[in-house]
Amino acid sequence: MFQFLEMSQTDFLVIGSGIAGLTFAVKTAKRFPDKKITVLTKVNTDETNTKYAQGGIAVVNDTENDSFKKHIDDTLTAGDGLCNEEVVSLVVQEGPERVNEIIDWGTKFDKDKDGDYKRGKEGGHSEHRILHHKDVTGNEIERALIAEVSKYKNIVIQNHWYVVDIITQHHLGYLVTKSTPDVTCYGVYALNLQTNKIEKILSRITLMASGGAGQAYRATTNPKIATGDGIAMVYRAKGRIENMEFIQFHPTALHEAGVSPSFLITEAVRGDGGILRNKHGDAFMKHYDERADLAPRDIVARAIDNEMKVNGTEHVYLDCKHMDREKFLNHFPNIYAKCKSIGLDVFEHMIPVAPAAHYCCGGIKSDENGRTSINNLYACGECSSTGLHGANRLASNSLLEALVFAHRCAEDAALHLDQTIIEEKIPDWNAEGTSTPKEMILITQSLKEVQQIMSDYVGIVRNDIRLQRAMRRLDLLHEETEDLYRTSTLSPQLCELRNLITIGYLIVKSAQFRKESRGLHYNVDFPEKSSQLQNVVL
Ligand code: FAD
Ligand code: SIN
Repeated sequence: MFQFLEMSQTDFLVIGSGIAGLTFAVKTAKRFPDKKITVLTKVNTDETNTKYAQGGIAVVNDTENDSFKKHIDDTLTAGDGLCNEEVVSLVVQEGPERVNEIIDWGTKFDKDKDGDYKRGKEGGHSEHRILHHKDVTGNEIERALIAEVSKYKNIVIQNHWYVVDIITQHHLGYLVTKSTPDVTCYGVYALNLQTNKIEKILSRITLMASGGAGQAYRATTNPKIATGDGIAMVYRAKGRIENMEFIQFHPTALHEAGVSPSFLITEAVRGDGGILRNKHGDAFMKHYDERADLAPRDIVARAIDNEMKVNGTEHVYLDCKHMDREKFLNHFPNIYAKCKSIGLDVFEHMIPVAPAAHYCCGGIKSDENGRTSINNLYACGECSSTGLHGANRLASNSLLEALVFAHRCAEDAALHLDQTIIEEKIPDWNAEGTSTPKEMILITQSLKEVQQIMSDYVGIVRNDIRLQRAMRRLDLLHEETEDLYRTSTLSPQLCELRNLITIGYLIVKSAQFRKESRGLHYNVDFPEKSSQLQNVVL
């Protein structure tokens, strides 16, 4: 008979309820019906980057026209020399089985009238291989996963629990540094937003599935939750963080002044024939790359950035006026409705678009089974750096990566569960000497500053002076925020600010280490690629 451990203890602790966290939870719950799996999320279950995914999931399931080799080659080309080829190969080859699992769990991908899957195409793909549910694929996947989770009584989802830090030997009073061997994760301290108390939750195995960090930038497609918390926590706990300089800017976010996050116009629109034009109406992409509008994202985003600078505009246009009306409405009803809601009929007007921070290619360094450099801590999904994306992620490869690695983490964790314990000696959180900050402006203004620094100095095109300036300004914000952190009762806003400053630091530091331009990192002071291939690990 299944018996819950007490609330503050769990066999498996999952931080995050997106595609990575929920997939791991389902697999683990099924394998261990007598073990408890606790999922913590900082807001509602479905408020995740996953929910907003549009284009779909890249997978080879049409072996007549497509092949693993082609998908592997496309991923390696986009990754610009830095992908781990073994990881690329395993993700592409295990992908179809993992995607079939979520189809079995109820995810519906669009089919044509003959019952074959419709396959979309996006930048950098040599074939049509992207399964999708209209232009709301992520919403459909998240829906199906939440429904699947609800079938397992041994999964407990705790919404509105903000994880502050992971617990290691540091909290037992030992000195933990980057060179300490066997740093071990014993669980987390988390702020229960119903009681406003910080509680410890002890676990035998912890999975970090906390998603991306787009909120480090002023313009981003990522929802408010994407503040890089997991990456910052692992860095503080002395875990290894890799390749943070590779921030992917999506070329085509809808340009609406003052609106955040930015609404995405999926790359699949260009896959179906949408054309980028500058203010003179010129279809400029052909001047930058022979693949024109379907070149990989780094190239398209840089081209748009250049067109905006040369023409002194805040956006370019995506022209869909010539596209087949019925086909467009069928594939992109959500985009059509969003544009209509702001007075734009896509068949009459071009859509104003500009690049926005979209995806964090680096993150918590993890191996082919999702293990991090900290014992009993796994990482999966956007917060991890598995080696799949290298210097630039191929469109629609991240949902696939999350599925494949959630499976691998679950398999590996199952093999190691017996070697783990609940560490009972962990002290309670000590909030002595802290008080509620009197002025929220100290937090909100600093957040704006971080986003401004990152957008103005550490965007699509970088140089050494800008990186230096960014570092100096982040240093000051770090100092001020640490003072506030030491003396304040914690709130998600303060913790998120602290984490975003750490994310900014990690991006700038990694960018400063990389003395070349490769993939998403373009530094005008080092415009060439170095002959040495190197990952930056902090
Ligand atoms: P998420 O889905 O972001 O989930 C993160 C979870 O962590 C949330 O539950 C959150 O509450 C929780 N969390 C975070 N911090 C804390 C904390 N401190 N305490 C407690 N909980 C916490 N990829 C594709 O492959 N195809 C696409 O078509 C595609 N389209 C996209 C469109 C948009 C607009 C965006 C933003 C992204 C898109 N991506 C796409 C990328 C992809 O959606 C994400 O990389 C992926 O969904 C991330 O999943 P995840 O499970 O790692 O994290
Ligand atoms: C998009 O639909 O353009 C986003 C796809 C992705 O980020 O992978």
